[in-house]
Amino acid sequence: MLTTLVTCLSELQDAACAAIAAATALKELEALDAQYLGRKGALAQCMGAMKGLSAADKPALGKVANDAKAVVTAALETRRATLLDAADAQSLAQDALDVTLPGRARVQGGAHPLAQTLREMLDIFQRLGFAIEEGPEIEDEWHNFDALNIPASHPARDVQDTFFINAAPAADPRAGRFILRTHTSPVQARVMQQTTPPLRFVAPGRVYRNERIDASHYTIFHQVEGLYVDRAVSFAQLKGTLLDFAHAYYGPQVKLRFRPGYFPFTEPSAEVDITCSVCSGRGCSVCKQTGWVEILGAGMVHPNVFRAVGYDPDAVTGFAFGMGVERIAMLKYGIDDIRLFYENDLRFLTQFA
Ligand code: PHE
Repeated sequence: MLTTLVTCLSELQDAACAAIAAATALKELEALDAQYLGRKGALAQCMGAMKGLSAADKPALGKVANDAKAVVTAALETRRATLLDAADAQSLAQDALDVTLPGRARVQGGAHPLAQTLREMLDIFQRLGFAIEEGPEIEDEWHNFDALNIPASHPARDVQDTFFINAAPAADPRAGRFILRTHTSPVQARVMQQTTPPLRFVAPGRVYRNERIDASHYTIFHQVEGLYVDRAVSFAQLKGTLLDFAHAYYGPQVKLRFRPGYFPFTEPSAEVDITCSVCSGRGCSVCKQTGWVEILGAGMVHPNVFRAVGYDPDAVTGFAFGMGVERIAMLKYGIDDIRLFYENDLRFLTQFA
């Protein structure tokens, strides 16, 4: 009886070890574990037969059984470790990370050059004490023209220059037709209608002109309007303000030149040039070899404008100016075609990102 059981155990141990060595998956191992070492497994069944042994034989078989269990357990553990290592190695190989590959460059966006220019311009005027105001792009004829002393017969009101909107006119007959504003000067009238002097603000915004598009003209562009109204505002203050702006934006080396000009809403009026920032005044294609480029229109607010908005022209004076944002940026960066701002060509735009 004892010998039979010992043989049985030894065969069982060999069979288990062979099966364990042949197992190729962890799952298979767990099944073998249960099959041989489980509570109802082969070993347990063999031990069950011990009941029939004599008291003298029991310890001998017990030792053989325990040895067999230890051998099978050790075999399981060794094989489990081997399979785990192989699984690790495989997943490492699969998920291998090549740290020598060059990184993927991230495309860095940035504000549009016009937005950047506008922000810088407004920063400068805010430092000079100007508030920021805005007006509508769809404007009525009264604010765009009449309030600014531009008579009905003025050529600027012609369809050649102005985009008219196909809509019923405003309820107030004085307002006239709706148009796309041709300049930011109507914001002067709107703010003055709503406030009492003194006031000092700049008004940035988009304007529209029905123009033939070329390197220096586009149907859409941007202006920054400026208005300062108080009891004794002088032309000298206008000059000082514009000089401060030009120095802050282009640098202390630039000079300003005021030429007599004409705008219906200012008197006297001036067209203001700066020394060409592209060639530093030496003469180039941008300044047509003159060394000077026009950057803005300006002047002292016309008494008729004050009257139109209900201000007393004997009590207050003021200066106004208007400049084109595209032009300001073109001169700063040496850009020779206004269309570049509107074509969204990344080769152009990324230079400002
Ligand atoms: N509105 C004028 C233009 O568009 C510019 C300007 C503004 C001139 C204010 C004088 C005063 O050309």
